[in-house]
Order: sequence, then C-alpha cells, then structure tokens
Amino acid sequence: MLPGGAALAKRVLVTGGAGFVGSHVVDALLGRGDHVLVVDDLSTGDTGNLPATVDLLELGVGGYSFRREAKKFQPDAIVHCAAQASVAVSMQRPAFDAEVNVVAGLNVLVAAAESGCRKFVYINTGGALYGQPQYLPCDEDHPIRPISAYGLSKWALECYLGIVLPRFITPKVLRLANVYGPRQDPNGEAGVVGIFGLQMLQNSQVKIFGDGEQTRDFVHVGDVAQAVCLALGSEMALTVNIGSGTALSVNELFQKMAGSAGYTKQPEYHPERPGDVKHVVLDCRRAEKLLGWRAATPMEQGLRHTLEWLRASGIEARQ
Ligand SMILES: NC(=O)c1ccc[n+]([C@@H]2O[C@H](COP(=O)([O-])OP(=O)(O)OC[C@H]3O[C@@H](n4cnc5c(N)ncnc54)[C@H](O)[C@@H]3O)[C@@H](O)[C@H]2O)c1
Repeated sequence: MLPGGAALAKRVLVTGGAGFVGSHVVDALLGRGDHVLVVDDLSTGDTGNLPATVDLLELGVGGYSFRREAKKFQPDAIVHCAAQASVAVSMQRPAFDAEVNVVAGLNVLVAAAESGCRKFVYINTGGALYGQPQYLPCDEDHPIRPISAYGLSKWALECYLGIVLPRFITPKVLRLANVYGPRQDPNGEAGVVGIFGLQMLQNSQVKIFGDGEQTRDFVHVGDVAQAVCLALGSEMALTVNIGSGTALSVNELFQKMAGSAGYTKQPEYHPERPGDVKHVVLDCRRAEKLLGWRAATPMEQGLRHTLEWLRASGIEARQ
C-alpha cells in the first residue's frame, strides 16, 4: 500500500501501448513493477517503441477478440490510449475517426466491465476539447465546444464513461495538452515538435500553418506517464487537465527549436488548417491538488532531449 492507503495496480492493460504516449506509460508501469499487457493494432504504433519483453497483442480494440483477451488477462486497471489521434485526419475522415474513438472505444468500456477491472484511465485531449476558449487558462469546468471531429469524438467517449462503466470501476480522465517528446512520429499528422524537429535536422523547409501566433500548452510525455501512474495509485474518480499551464506560440516554439537545432532558414507560412483552435492553455491546478502532479520537465530540456532522440533514431522524412 502507498501512503494514504492507495494500492498500486498490478496488472494493467494498456490499449495503444505501442504508440507515442502509450509506450511511455508502459515504460513507467514496467518501471514500478506492474504486469503490463499491451493491445495495439499497430496502425500508427510501432513495436520498436516497446521493450522486447513486454506482452503485446497485435489486435484492434473494436472487436470481440479484444473483449475475450481483456477478460482472460483479468486486469486491475485499463489505461485507454488507443485512438485516432490526429485533428487533421479527423477532419478528412470523420466517420473513421468516430469508428475508432467512439465505437471501438465503447467496446473497450464494455471489455473493462466484463474483465472486472477496478480502475479505468481514459486518455483524453484537453487541447482539442474546449474549443475556442472563453477564458484562459481553461480549467476543467470551461464549456466544452470542440471545433474538430477529433475533439468531439474524444469528448463523446468521456461522456459514455459515466453511462457505460459499472459502479465498481473508478474512472480517471486525463485531459492532455499538446504532448511532445521522444517517439512522437515526426512524419505523422500531429505533433508539431516532432515535425519541426525532423524538418530542422534535415535542413528542409519548416512549414507553419496560420500566422504562427496561435498558442499551445506543451507538456513532456514523461510527465504525462507520471500523471497516469499517480492516477492509478489514487482511489478517487477524477477528471483533470494535464499540461504545463504555460502558453507558447508556434513562432516562439520555432525560435527555441531552431536555436537548439542550429537551423537558420525562415519558416514558410501556409493557410491555417480546419479544426485547429487559435489559443489554448490548460489550468492544471486540479491535478496538483488531487494527484500532487505538476509538469516537471523544463521546456528547453525536453526539446533538447527530443532533438537528441530524433538525431539518434535515424528517421527520414516521408515524401
Ligand atoms: N500526442 C498528443 O499531443 C495528445 C494530446 C492529447 C491527447 N492525446 C491522446 O493520447 C492518446 C495517444 O495518442 P498518441 O499521440 O500517442 O498517438 P499514437 O497514434 O502514437 O498512439 C495511438 C496508438 O493507438 C493504436 N491504435 C489506434 N487505433 C487502434 C485500434 N482500433 N485498436 C488498437 N490499437 C489502436 C495505434 O497503433 C497507436 O499505437 C490518444 O488517445 C490521444 O487522443 C494525445
């Protein structure tokens, strides 16, 4: 038992555990001695993100097989990271986005109930949830008016938690800001830090959508994994924002990264993309109060660390 009577979860099923955020959650759980089962269809995830020894089922979470495997594993907790995680893709393919984030997500809730697990951590978005903010920073009580299909589908599953999960399962919702760090796919549709980083290291043209004055809240993925561990250690139902609480414009991010990467070209500006909010920064005081969590990684250090990983990974730009 932890101080305060919180028991550590011992058997944890992580959906989407081969992805960017999920694989860091897996590392943190393995690091504290948990038995982890990763279920991932590898649609955007990569086995290279995981230690070779981890139990991995290459499986979609939307079908009966997933429910059968979850029941067999008998988890104490499920951390649901699997998702279609790109705002741009959600605007191009909203039905696909909803199939993954809502319909397959509902199957995960049913699986949680059937498996008898006691805790369910839902990895939601904070950055795309609140819409164009009425005030900043957005706390958890800010009106929820997503302007992207992604924001809406992620919100829909959060609403279903209270309806579909039985009372013996304690739900924990983490609404994440813009996560960055090693393993974020720099060729993906999401994750400006990884995208800029690769473009800078290859000395190719960095593109900024909009005027670059849009602001975001960047949180390091290691801090997010820590928040998941703390949420699992708590006995309380909770909904908390997880971010740095600091706004940084995309132009400022560009300058910071260019300095670190030794990139000397000017960025190229393109029209803003549908579904992107102008400003967002999260008020994370509730996570500090309820979980004792706050973002700990200084941005300069996190960016340096991400650039080092990109250099070492040898990833090439996809044409
Ligand atoms: N990266 C961010 O900035 C950010 C911010 C807020 C919230 N989130 C949330 O964090 C979670 C992880 O996002 P990410 O950035 O790591 O993206 P990611 O694409 O790297 O991870 C998603 C993982 O889910 C897997 N997956 C997708 N559909 C699946 C399915 N039907 N069955 C099984 N596995 C499936 C993918 O293969 C991948 O490994 C998502 O829920 C996302 O909404 C991410």
